[in-house]
Amino acid sequence: MSDLMRATATACSNIAFIKYWGKQDFDSNIPLNDSISMCLSEAVTTTTVVWSPDLSQDEFYLDGERVLDDRSLRISRYLDRIRDQYYRMSARVASVNSFPAGTGIASSASAFAALSTAAIAAFGEDSPDLTEMSRWARRGSGSASRSIESGYVEWVGGHDDASSYCRQLCGPEHWDLRDIVVVLSTKPKAISSTEGHRIASVHPFMEARQAELPARLAALKGALVARDFVTFGEIVEHEAMEVQAIMMSGRPSALYMQPETIGLIHALRAFRESSGLPVYFTLDAGPNLHVLCEGRHAHRIEAWLKKLAPTADLLHNRPGPGTLLSDAHLI
Ligand code: DP6
Repeated sequence: MSDLMRATATACSNIAFIKYWGKQDFDSNIPLNDSISMCLSEAVTTTTVVWSPDLSQDEFYLDGERVLDDRSLRISRYLDRIRDQYYRMSARVASVNSFPAGTGIASSASAFAALSTAAIAAFGEDSPDLTEMSRWARRGSGSASRSIESGYVEWVGGHDDASSYCRQLCGPEHWDLRDIVVVLSTKPKAISSTEGHRIASVHPFMEARQAELPARLAALKGALVARDFVTFGEIVEHEAMEVQAIMMSGRPSALYMQPETIGLIHALRAFRESSGLPVYFTLDAGPNLHVLCEGRHAHRIEAWLKKLAPTADLLHNRPGPGTLLSDAHLI
């Protein structure tokens, strides 16, 4: 153990092209299926963890404000797992996000990737390798496991804690894809993704989805490796709509799309048809549309989006880096 048990990590969120929706195991976040994502360069969480024998309980600060609700409970429960394997003491945790939480930009992904990496590094011992780090991040939030590695990442779902981990499919330089997030709402969602996974896991459509996924995953990987954007976009868009259908028709129903989301989807499809430009979309558990295109078309597509949704913020992401340690401590 070093004298000052402090470390800082930065992590990008990620957007799933094939989604994690439904779990086999809710304690360790073992998913029903493999998933594939891209790290989002502009959706970044920075977290500093300080372990201290002088603290009587954990403290969590988000954007400089102390957090005392369920979010800090979730962090403490997660830190308990790390304490079980390392040392027993409390931590002060400070985080800042470059994007609004709870918007369908998966903030728990960047949050738990940064938290796990900083918390373990702060003990000053040798860091686990990236595969093991992806397991640590996954125990905090499933999607976080895909934010440890850079670029395009596959989460091998597995069947237990050891067999469920992430690996890089291609580095960020492999393909200049863009995800332009149209931020339509920054309100927290009514049904959390953790709750959504529970509803989905018992959904009657799930069996049919699971039967189709192996072929879809293989086709998406093929399109990614070949940089075949049209094949890629068609798979991703279909996948997004399938998962939304499961969300909407669950009990209770999770209707994450807003009227503006639907309006944008219609407009995007009409624009794709009329302009001939390859542009597709995906959605997460939120109303914001993730507009996907190749870098060479991004300028025109962003200009079109600005005209179409002049009041919405656009978050223009490239394939991002993995989780990194940093010297820019927040506390
Ligand atoms: C719709 O990773 O947020 O973004 O493991 O319960 O923390 P927990 O869930 P979470 O689920 C993300 C779901 C999704 C799809 C995806 O990222 O694959």
